[in-house]
Amino acid sequence: MKTFPPPQRCFWPIGTIKGWVGPTGFSSKSTPEDVLKDIDLSNRLVIVTGANSGIGKETALAAFKHQAHVIFACRNIAEASKITKELNSLLPKDSEPRAYAYELDLSSLESVHKFCLKVRSNFNALHVLVNNAGVMGGDKFERTVDGHEQMFQVNYLAHAMIVRELFPLMRKAVGGARVVSVSSHVHFFTHRKGIDFSKVTGANAHVKSDTARSYGTSKLAQIIFTRDMQALSAASRRAFESEILFFSVHPGAIQTPGAKKHENGWKGRLLRKLSKPFIKTVEEGASTTCFAAFHEDATFFAGYYLADCNFFQSSKHSRDRSLREQLREVTEKLITDFTETVM
Ligand SMILES: NC(=O)c1ccc[n+]([C@@H]2O[C@H](COP(=O)([O-])OP(=O)(O)OC[C@H]3O[C@@H](n4cnc5c(N)ncnc54)[C@H](OP(=O)(O)O)[C@@H]3O)[C@@H](O)[C@H]2O)c1
Repeated sequence: MKTFPPPQRCFWPIGTIKGWVGPTGFSSKSTPEDVLKDIDLSNRLVIVTGANSGIGKETALAAFKHQAHVIFACRNIAEASKITKELNSLLPKDSEPRAYAYELDLSSLESVHKFCLKVRSNFNALHVLVNNAGVMGGDKFERTVDGHEQMFQVNYLAHAMIVRELFPLMRKAVGGARVVSVSSHVHFFTHRKGIDFSKVTGANAHVKSDTARSYGTSKLAQIIFTRDMQALSAASRRAFESEILFFSVHPGAIQTPGAKKHENGWKGRLLRKLSKPFIKTVEEGASTTCFAAFHEDATFFAGYYLADCNFFQSSKHSRDRSLREQLREVTEKLITDFTETVM
């Protein structure tokens, strides 16, 4: 396995703006095509949540182009079906379809559970899960049908539940499996304690608060989860045939429909101004996800946070052991509480 020195301290933000090439040989300007050059994903199953739009769609298209079987896990099933139909029509005549549209609404744990049951009944192994779908800020606080703050559930909790329910399939993936969570540099911007658990679930989950901080909290939870799962997975590696690697990534600043919603109000407008020099194309925005999900060299960074296809030091909160334990405890409780209602 190759080893990589961390990028120079001055790499961000200038390196991102200028497109400097980092130790992995990739940069903010790399595209999924650069990252996936000569990589064949035949016979691999890849799931991308929120694949009907933006970064998720670009990631799913890149995997499909490189011969993977791809599940487009989407709330907007009409759009997902349209995309998968078009993709399958490009395949040689008589070949089996390789793009599948599955319905998934992350704001309902019941929908998540049904989605996982469907995947488990149709496939024997899962090679890559990309936890991409996300709600970004906005000006309104919402609570899900399960009673949790919407961003916490959609961006983090529901994806944690998918990992839990599809774990057995990942364990059967020949050559190992990977889980990539699309997080954000906004994870540096959270509540003072990192995660204020009284605001993500329970009676106060809908109380008006700073939506940007709540978005940051949900993205922080993804990074903590990645580190925790990687540690647990590595510790139990010998007991299983295949290894599961976990990554979290920052895709960059990309003008997708979700990001535009985030630009409401004066804070949003300020953010748009500040992020202008960093803006990437949607393609460039998918390359760090593709690097983590498919590139051999990414194995060196398992458990870590990546940006511009290179290592990036995540926040202090993301490395806080006691916060990690608290998050694990709360997550397990919330998922178990739900599971008990459907059993
Ligand atoms: N764009 C950026 O600058 C930026 C920066 C940092 C991180 N990110 C992260 O990148 C990821 C992808 O975002 P994007 O920029 O590509 O935005 P996008 O084009 O708006 O994509 C977001 C996706 O998430 C889906 N989604 C939202 N709520 C859902 C739910 N309840 N159930 C299932 N799917 C749901 C959306 O589905 P619908 O089409 O049905 O709404 C859409 O497919 C997000 O996790 C975001 O936080 C983006």
